[in-house]
Amino acid sequence: MIISILLLSIFKLTTSLDIDTSDTKSICDATALIQQGLMDYYWGTQYGGTVGMFQPPYYWWEAGEAFGGMIENWYLCGNTSYESMLMDAFVAQTGPDYDYIPANQTMVEGNDDQGIWGLTIMNAVERNFTAPNKDGVPGWLALSQAVFNTMWSRWDDAHCQGGLRWQIFTWNSGYNYKNTVANACLFQMAARLGRYTGNQTYLDVASKVFNWLTEVGFVVIDGQDYANVYDGASIDDNCTDITTLEWSYNHGIVLGGAAFMYNATNGSSTWQNRVDKLLTGATTYFFRNGVMYESACQDGNNCNNDQRSFRSIFSRMLSFTSILVPETADIIDPLMKSTAEAVAKSCSGGTDGHTCGLNWEKGTWDGQYGLGEQMCALEAMQSLLIHTKPPLYTQYNGGSSVGDANAGLNSSTTNVLKNHLNISNGDRAGAAIVTAIILAILLGGAVWMLF
Ligand SMILES: *[C@@H]1O[C@H](CO)[C@@H](O)[C@H](O)[C@H]1NC(C)=O
Ligand SMILES: *[C@@H]1O[C@H](CO)[C@@H](O)[C@H](O)[C@H]1NC(C)=O
Ligand SMILES: *[C@@H]1O[C@H](CO)[C@@H](O)[C@H](O)[C@H]1NC(C)=O
Ligand SMILES: *[C@@H]1O[C@H](CO)[C@@H](O)[C@H](O)[C@H]1NC(C)=O
Ligand SMILES: *[C@@H]1O[C@H](CO)[C@@H](O)[C@H](O)[C@H]1NC(C)=O
Ligand SMILES: *[C@@H]1O[C@H](CO)[C@@H](O)[C@H](O)[C@H]1NC(C)=O
Ligand SMILES: *[C@@H]1O[C@H](CO)[C@@H](O)[C@H](O)[C@H]1NC(C)=O
Ligand SMILES: *[C@@H]1O[C@H](CO)[C@@H](O)[C@H](O)[C@H]1NC(C)=O
Repeated sequence: MIISILLLSIFKLTTSLDIDTSDTKSICDATALIQQGLMDYYWGTQYGGTVGMFQPPYYWWEAGEAFGGMIENWYLCGNTSYESMLMDAFVAQTGPDYDYIPANQTMVEGNDDQGIWGLTIMNAVERNFTAPNKDGVPGWLALSQAVFNTMWSRWDDAHCQGGLRWQIFTWNSGYNYKNTVANACLFQMAARLGRYTGNQTYLDVASKVFNWLTEVGFVVIDGQDYANVYDGASIDDNCTDITTLEWSYNHGIVLGGAAFMYNATNGSSTWQNRVDKLLTGATTYFFRNGVMYESACQDGNNCNNDQRSFRSIFSRMLSFTSILVPETADIIDPLMKSTAEAVAKSCSGGTDGHTCGLNWEKGTWDGQYGLGEQMCALEAMQSLLIHTKPPLYTQYNGGSSVGDANAGLNSSTTNVLKNHLNISNGDRAGAAIVTAIILAILLGGAVWMLF
């Protein structure tokens, strides 16, 4: 008994993540271990698992978020160990119309879920990830454009003067809610496509979406030194009763989008001002004593699985902001460094001795674990490497992905939902029938088994 405790403590001492924050190899060794922990939740390469999906209870969207961090690691550490796993996942989950609306997810997928996957595929574009290796699968750029085009086709001027709804499909709960994250993803997809391709149309859409977010009051920025980013509101009261919870991922995706806009507009003062205020908000609400935290749920110890993952994409967005808006690096880099040091101490739990926790302010593992914990730790730590490699490419300076500006416009969900929006102005019974028909079209024969 005593011997095994002694052995365990020696084992732990030798395996906790000691990092030298100025040494790429040290950081890449540590992130390799964190990714191995992350991959414990991925059974897509094993019998009974699904390619591109993490095990329940993790939703489909979280796979998109996790793979975004892993693409960054592939690039920043130059480690190709997971390249074919990522390739297979991205190809498997494109869906029949190549727009990241796979049939399996029609009962859960919202605009935000598609958007988070879209941001990751765009990441593949900007990091020049190896092109899809399967015949018929469009390039990462075309797939990103399909995500953008299908999302933009769902823009809904009929309620709250614009905006995307949370849900794509009428039958999913939350269809009447317009949320920040779905719109922030659309905003950022447009900004990134605009920066990457140089096509002004995308930048115009990005500005329009951002303006709507401020007009509806989800993003509060004018007249204050810092920005607030709230969660969303229901169309039932014209989006006036706003849920004011502030999540790091909402804040991060809006900040990141503004940083891409700043960079795409060659440093416009309008976007510089927005970046500054969003960044001040980000550092105020989601850092405490130099360590990142999820302020809305962490202290109450009630972060759900989704919320436990938010700091991963938040970290990625801070990293991107630091390269796209160079004058922010002086603010962002020291905060990410102190956070990464705290993460290293947190990643000292579990049977492997380097499982990562949720609360990074403890100086040691806090006993929490999960996919979200691993991916947040991964992205916070690899942020240390963000300036060691060339910045996000555009098609003019290193990117090579094949695009298609019209991708997704023929997608079945786009067309079916467009028709539905026209028809459903009739009575509710009619709408219910249409809903059933859409379900039938999308799911094929399987729908009748559900009733
Ligand atoms: C690359 O990642 C794999 C899997 O995590 C790891 O075993 C390996 O040590 C890493 N290679 C390098 C050079 O860091
Ligand atoms: C859809 O779900 C089935 C059953 O779980 C699974 O076998 C299949 O691989 C899934 N397809 C995708 C693309 O996830
Ligand atoms: C919804 O709110 C907007 C902005 O506050 C207002 O201009 C519009 O008239 C309202 N629409 C309805 C239907 O109340
Ligand atoms: C971008 O800014 C640089 C430096 O101010 C300037 O030389 C260049 O002409 C600008 N390019 C565009 C397209 O505005
Ligand atoms: C845009 O991003 C690149 C890459 O980091 C950077 O070199 C450039 O200075 C940025 N542009 C502006 C206007 O800051
Ligand atoms: C991007 O990938 C293409 C195709 O593999 C390659 O030819 C090109 O050199 C890559 N660009 C950079 C900057 O590495
Ligand atoms: C620019 O993007 C828009 C929107 O997708 C598209 O309709 C247009 O064809 C694109 N223009 C070029 C030159 O690619
Ligand atoms: C969409 O469908 C039309 C008509 O069938 C076809 O001409 C066009 O090439 C399709 N576009 C794409 C992007 O698949």
